[in-house]
Amino acid sequence: MSSVKVLACCRQLFLPHVREGTLSSSGHTMLMGCVRRHLSFSARLQSNMPAWVIDQYGNNGVLRFTEEVIAPSINSASEVLIQVHAASLNPLDIAMRGGYGSKLFNLKRNLMSLGQNASEFPIILGRDVSGVVVDCGSGVTHFTPGDEVWAAIPPWKQGSLAGLVTLSEYEVSHKPSSLSHTEAASVPYVAATALSALVNAGGLNRDSCVDKRVLIIGASGGVGTFSIQLLKAWGAHVTVTCSHNAEGLVRGVGADDVVDYTAGDVADELGQLEKFDVILDNVGGDYEHWVMALLKPWSGAKYVTLVSPLLSSTDSMGLLEGWVHSGLALTQVAVKNMCNGVFYRWGFYAPDGPVLDEVSRLVDAGKILPVVEATFPFSNVPQAFEKLEGGHARGKTVINVVEEGVARGLAENIDTSEVGDVRETVQNS
Ligand SMILES: NC(=O)c1ccc[n+]([C@@H]2O[C@H](COP(=O)([O-])OP(=O)(O)OC[C@H]3O[C@@H](n4cnc5c(N)ncnc54)[C@H](OP(=O)(O)O)[C@@H]3O)[C@@H](O)[C@H]2O)c1
Repeated sequence: MSSVKVLACCRQLFLPHVREGTLSSSGHTMLMGCVRRHLSFSARLQSNMPAWVIDQYGNNGVLRFTEEVIAPSINSASEVLIQVHAASLNPLDIAMRGGYGSKLFNLKRNLMSLGQNASEFPIILGRDVSGVVVDCGSGVTHFTPGDEVWAAIPPWKQGSLAGLVTLSEYEVSHKPSSLSHTEAASVPYVAATALSALVNAGGLNRDSCVDKRVLIIGASGGVGTFSIQLLKAWGAHVTVTCSHNAEGLVRGVGADDVVDYTAGDVADELGQLEKFDVILDNVGGDYEHWVMALLKPWSGAKYVTLVSPLLSSTDSMGLLEGWVHSGLALTQVAVKNMCNGVFYRWGFYAPDGPVLDEVSRLVDAGKILPVVEATFPFSNVPQAFEKLEGGHARGKTVINVVEEGVARGLAENIDTSEVGDVRETVQNS
């Protein structure tokens, strides 16, 4: 893969589609003031921060901007407090806005608060953060205030559509120095997901990929564009499926063979290719019924899907019944496929700062580049959700919470009248 070619491709993709918000000097003072107070008194004083929250589950209408969220502070020796500079959205944010995973995430929240019923709302969405450490717990060894960091935030923790976020040291990593915060925020969640799926479930790693044939179904979005680059950096041969208008993008980030799933019989076309060692499925549905036949039988080949019914089952049936039901379903399909000589697995996002350290090295070596499709100012978070909800992602949607070192997007700049215009601009680009 030519990194220059990819860089050109990705820079071209990095399109600020949305009108910049007007700088709010009062908002700036407020956010900076909040951070300063935290630096001095984080353990003793409660202060507020700006954030987009939801107070109930639903559609985009439940997103609410407020400057009155109690800012997080350091509550344990291993925590770091991060000033958010940029966040990005993932399909999970849309699902969580509608209540997806709420039973399991509430359980985790309650366990984290040591059995005292943690309140469910308000919830702050946003699973990716790139920002600057402003405070550290007494046991933190890898970070100091002023460090530029990135992280993927577990879904049971408060997210990054806010001025500040706290995470455990283990979940955080130093940001690649070659990336801006905007670029960096596009990577962590898809990277943590892809690595967990490809390594833990798919059995791949940087030493085992040479000569491996990998098929990625649904490769033009966040997980896909990252996975292609990771697998190429590790030496694998990568075949992907995507729409015809995404071919330039996926080839630009390194895909060897591209199959347009919108033209003709995708099963027939994939069936004519040499069989695969690993399939990563980002789409789910019918695919899992027929793609198993594309794996090399009796060779340890694995199918890994990111679209499992686990969370929707626990939501609809309750935690215990949902787990048991999902476990039985998984076992049944896995055993059936094992009889045919292939492995069937579910892949999941896993929080992991050290894994991001490795990604950071690959990024700074020019082997992985961010693919940012659209950027929005903090004032336009609902428009960013609309864009993502429209589907057909070509990389990531990023929110600039702080731009050029200045807080922006606070109450007086919020303009929700432009949703239609924004969608049109993004789709026409
Ligand atoms: N289990 C987990 O922990 C976990 C973690 C992260 C993500 N996920 C899931 O993994 C999936 C991918 O995530 P993502 O962040 O990459 O989503 P994304 O950014 O929305 O990308 C999805 C991509 O798939 C393409 N697509 C849709 N239907 C397709 C089809 N039939 N064949 C080929 N491509 C198709 C879309 O473009 P076109 O429609 O234009 O083709 C889009 O580019 C999502 O369902 C997400 O919820 C699961």
